[in-house]
Amino acid sequence: MKILVTGGAGFIGSNFIYWVLKNRDWEIINLDKLTYAGNLENLKGIENDPRYNFVQGDVCDSHTVNELMAKVDCVVHFAAESHVDRSVLEPAVFVETNVVGTQVLLQAALENKIKKFHHVSTDEVFGALELDGSKKFNEETPYNPHSPYSASKAASDHLVRAYGDTFGLEYTITNCSNNYGPYQFPEKIIPLFVTNAQEDKSLPIYGDGKAVRDYLYVDDHCEAIALVLENGKAGETYCVGGDSEKNGIEMAETILKALGKPKSLMTFVKDRPGHDRRYAIDHSKITKELGWKPRVTFEEGIAKTIQWNLDNKGWVENILSGEYQKYYEKQYGAR
Ligand SMILES: NC(=O)c1ccc[n+]([C@@H]2O[C@H](COP(=O)([O-])OP(=O)(O)OC[C@H]3O[C@@H](n4cnc5c(N)ncnc54)[C@H](O)[C@@H]3O)[C@@H](O)[C@H]2O)c1
Repeated sequence: MKILVTGGAGFIGSNFIYWVLKNRDWEIINLDKLTYAGNLENLKGIENDPRYNFVQGDVCDSHTVNELMAKVDCVVHFAAESHVDRSVLEPAVFVETNVVGTQVLLQAALENKIKKFHHVSTDEVFGALELDGSKKFNEETPYNPHSPYSASKAASDHLVRAYGDTFGLEYTITNCSNNYGPYQFPEKIIPLFVTNAQEDKSLPIYGDGKAVRDYLYVDDHCEAIALVLENGKAGETYCVGGDSEKNGIEMAETILKALGKPKSLMTFVKDRPGHDRRYAIDHSKITKELGWKPRVTFEEGIAKTIQWNLDNKGWVENILSGEYQKYYEKQYGAR
């Protein structure tokens, strides 16, 4: 099978490409615009693999997208603007890439008779859960997005379903929780805290630090996507979660402890506007139908992720010395 992966130079996309080349005999074309979040360094380990090809381009460019679709059987769509805080600062590009880009891909998928279009989405489309409740999101949860990021992802999910219902496009969608693992851009909480703690810099925790997220190790997510692509029923959605709910304070304490750093590095900063209090995922559908469940415990996953960041300081430093510096200062003040 030949697949078009969009956004394969980002965090989850690059991990997915490694996972597929190791675990399946599929061929991959990776279409990525290389925004601030796309990094070909992530793919150094497989750049000469004969089953892998890279094309720099924009998912909003229908000419490029159509040319590539003509060469593949299936699509796995990761490309997106993915950071909630940036969507508060600059919402327009989120609509352009996440909504318009998805529609361009869907149209090309239809015209090129793609066998399956898999759309990678987020649990953030469902809104927020009560902090102290036991309720979790599942495939029946109504959409209620709060940030420009989650609203743009919700819109893209609706478009995917509309192309299925209206034009008969064969699609699947996964809505997953917060991923973590190697190659995650250091604006996201885990690499941000690891990087700052290593340098004895403060760990910025939003608000009261009690907002809860579920953490999914990225390899587990990659396996879930592959199983859904292979065996998921067309027109179905699958929720994917890591059974690992943590709040900001717990995450900071875990990382500080692992690195032997003091809790005094924890600094509480102004809360994110519209910050959802809790996300949690009930993954029983994908477990029952496709036999998937998270294999990596939070303790194993966080240890591997911290070690990866320690072993790849050059990768992190390249990012820290670029455009990201300005963003960081705007968001949290000087590092
Ligand atoms: N990271 C998470 O925890 C998480 C959780 C749930 C869902 N998701 C979804 O998974 C997908 C991947 O997330 P990620 O964390 O790897 O994101 P990322 O920001 O690390 O990577 C996004 C990639 O998309 C590329 N891209 C952006 N705009 C593009 C465009 N117009 N054309 C082509 N390429 C473009 C970037 O260059 C980058 O390589 C996204 O759709 C995101 O919404 C992520």
